[in-house]
Amino acid sequence: MRIGVPTESRVGESRVAATAETVKKLVQQGHQVTLQAGAGLKASQPDGAYEEAGAQIGDIHAAFDADIVLKVRAPSTEEVPRMRQGAILVGMLGRLDQTNSELLAQVGVTAFSLEAAPRTTRAQSMDVLSSQANIAGYKAVLIAAQHYKRFLPMLMTAAGTVKAARVLVLGAGVAGLQAIATAKRLGAVIEASDVRPGVKEQVESLGAKFLDVSLLTDEEREIAKGVGGYARPMPSDWLRRQATLVHERAKQADIIITTALIPGQKAPVLLPEEAVMEMKPGSIVVDLAAADGGNCPLTVADEVVERHGVTLIGHTNLASMVAADASALYARNVLSFLTILLNSNDARVLNMEDDIVKACLVSHDGRVRDAQS
Ligand code: NAI
Repeated sequence: MRIGVPTESRVGESRVAATAETVKKLVQQGHQVTLQAGAGLKASQPDGAYEEAGAQIGDIHAAFDADIVLKVRAPSTEEVPRMRQGAILVGMLGRLDQTNSELLAQVGVTAFSLEAAPRTTRAQSMDVLSSQANIAGYKAVLIAAQHYKRFLPMLMTAAGTVKAARVLVLGAGVAGLQAIATAKRLGAVIEASDVRPGVKEQVESLGAKFLDVSLLTDEEREIAKGVGGYARPMPSDWLRRQATLVHERAKQADIIITTALIPGQKAPVLLPEEAVMEMKPGSIVVDLAAADGGNCPLTVADEVVERHGVTLIGHTNLASMVAADASALYARNVLSFLTILLNSNDARVLNMEDDIVKACLVSHDGRVRDAQS
C-alpha cells in the first residue's frame, strides 16, 4: 500500500504521525511510504532519517495522494479534498476535530479516529489517549515548576530551610498519575483526588496522599465504579462533599493540576472561583481539561492568565510540547492499529469486523459512522 504522511498544519501542532522507526517497519512490511518534506522536523525527525528508513520525501500532494494517510490531527477543510476517493485516513479525529467527518464521508474517505479505541488490554498498544495523556501529565508539572517562583523540593541551606511545594492533583487517571510521579521526582508533597476509589492504591504507591471522599450510599458506590475505566458523573451530594474537601486542600496547595474528564460531557468544575480566591499568592493551576471547558471556570484555553494572584495555565496541547517522544509513542500506536486494520495476507482487505476497528470507524462508504448505525 502507498502510505502518505503530511506535515501537520494546525497551529501549535508539532507532532508527526510516523517516525523513522515506524517507517522502517512499514517498509519492511512491503508498504511504500512518502512523507511531506519537513513533516517530522518539529519532532526532531529530519527528512534524512526517514530516507534512511526507506521512505520517499515528496510534496504535500504526494503525501495526501496515498492509499493510507497517517495524521496526528484531523485534516483541515482544505486538506480533505486532497485525499483520493477510497483512501484510508488514520488519526486523532475525535473530540477536538469532529467538524470534518461529513466532508471526509463526501470525499469517500474511510476514516479512523484512534481516540475511540476501547480501553481494553488488546487495544492498549494503540491507546493514543493514554500515550498522549501520560506526556501531558509530565509536561504539566514542568510548566507549573517553570511558572512557580519557589522551589519544589525541600532544601536545607546555610541561608535557611525552604519548604517543599504542596501539589494537589485533581483527577488521577493517566495524566494525573504521571503528574504525581513527576512532581514526586521533583521533591513535592502531593495529594490527589478522584471519583474512582479504585485509584487510591495507585496514588499511594506513587507516594501521594489520596483524599478520600466517603461513598455513603449504594448509588454513590455504584456510580463511582465508572464504566469502561472512565468516570461517570457523581451524585450532587458526593460532589458537594468533594468540593468542601478540595476547597480546604486548595488553600494549602502551591500547585494544582486538574485533569478530571467525563467522556462526552463538559469537564466537571472542581476548582470554582471561590477556591482560587483563597489560594496562596503565587500559586499555580494547570488545567489539563481546558479544551473541554476546564476544571476551573477561570481557565482560558491556550492562555496563561493571572486571577486573584494565582497563575492559571490553559494549554490544550501539552503533548505537542514534547513533540519528539509524543510522536514516537503516537507513531507506534498508529503502527499497531495498522497491524490489526490491514489483513496480513492482503493489505487491501480491511478487517472491518474487528471490534477495535469498528470502534474507531468515523466514515466509510460515503457515510458518517453515526448515520450508518
Ligand atoms: P479521563 O481522561 O477520562 O479522566 C481523568 C480522570 O478524571 C479519571 O481518573 C476520572 O476518574 C477523573 N474524574 C472524573 N470526574 C472527576 C471528579 N469529579 N473528581 C475527581 N476526578 C474525576 O481518564 P483517563 O486518564 O483517560 O483513564 C481513566 C482510566 O481508564 C485509567 O485510570 C484506567 O483505569 C483506565 N484505562 C484502562 C486501560 C486499559 O485497560 N487498557 C488503558 C487506559 C486507561
